Amino acid sequence: MIGDLQQLEISALTELEKATNEDQAQAVRTKYLGRKGRLTGLLRNIAQVPDAEKPLFGKRCNEVKDTLSAKIDEVLFQQSLRKKSDGLLKEKIDVTIPGRSVKFGRIHPVIQIRREICAIFASFGFSIVEGPEVELDYYNFEALNIPKDHPARDMQDTFYIEENIVLRTHTSPVQVRIMEKIQPPVRILSPGRVYRRDSDVSHTPMFHQIEGLLVDKGVSFADLKGILTAFLKKIFGMDTTLRFRPSFFPFTEPSAEVDIRCVICGGSGCRVCGQSGWLEILGSGMVDPAVFRNVGYDSEEYTGFAFGLGLERIAMLKYGVSDIRLFFENDIRFLKQF
Ligand code: PHE
Repeated sequence: MIGDLQQLEISALTELEKATNEDQAQAVRTKYLGRKGRLTGLLRNIAQVPDAEKPLFGKRCNEVKDTLSAKIDEVLFQQSLRKKSDGLLKEKIDVTIPGRSVKFGRIHPVIQIRREICAIFASFGFSIVEGPEVELDYYNFEALNIPKDHPARDMQDTFYIEENIVLRTHTSPVQVRIMEKIQPPVRILSPGRVYRRDSDVSHTPMFHQIEGLLVDKGVSFADLKGILTAFLKKIFGMDTTLRFRPSFFPFTEPSAEVDIRCVICGGSGCRVCGQSGWLEILGSGMVDPAVFRNVGYDSEEYTGFAFGLGLERIAMLKYGVSDIRLFFENDIRFLKQF
């Protein structure tokens, strides 16, 4: 009987070795270890074994059963692994392809310029404030000395929400709102969106401006010149040349437009500067006494200057962008260059 047991073990292992799938391996289990299996059969006939050999026979039977059972489990496990890797191979996964890198966003060039300018003026002691984009006609025009029938309104034709409510055409209304709230000294900078009925390579219906206002006792045009010169040299480089040109704004008197030597041609004349060698950068002037009167400041006691500039224009000149509309198309190929 012991001999039969040995035979049984050998044939079971050989069959298991040939098993190429799960079903075949399970069949070996049924054939040898099942309820009607061969090992079970041998055990059932234990009565035929001489008494002296019975304990040994029983022990060997159990050993064979354990070995076979473990072997079958092992084969099944190996087969399931193979099945999985075959599946992966069929999917044609190339595990050597490098992973996709995480893409970081960037700060929009106009916002970069805004931050740069705010930082420069903060270092001059200016506070950053904001005003509403939907504005009363009073703040956008009237309080800034632009009456209803004034021709200066034509330069800033706008979008009307109602008869007396507009999308602001410039950041200058913030000057008035601030002066209504606080007494001098005033030193503020106000960035924000503004709107005009305009659209071409250098104008979009919405664009960004920054407004500056400084009011105190004894502020002169020399202070305006000094601050704006220091600012423009910081933003365009120390060797930037500027020129102050007489101009007109209803809310400043005298008014000056500030130009810098063309950053493209260096002054010899090109398409960007219209052959003039100069680029118009900002509008400025001494706050008109009429504006002070509107906010209740005594213009005999206080003087001040204000200025306003377009952020897209500065960004275009600084980065050499020829079409303002590129800033608002959100084309990633354009934006990722900054
Ligand atoms: N608000 C003017 C504009 O948009 C610019 C400006 C601001 C001029 C302050 C003088 C003083 O054109």
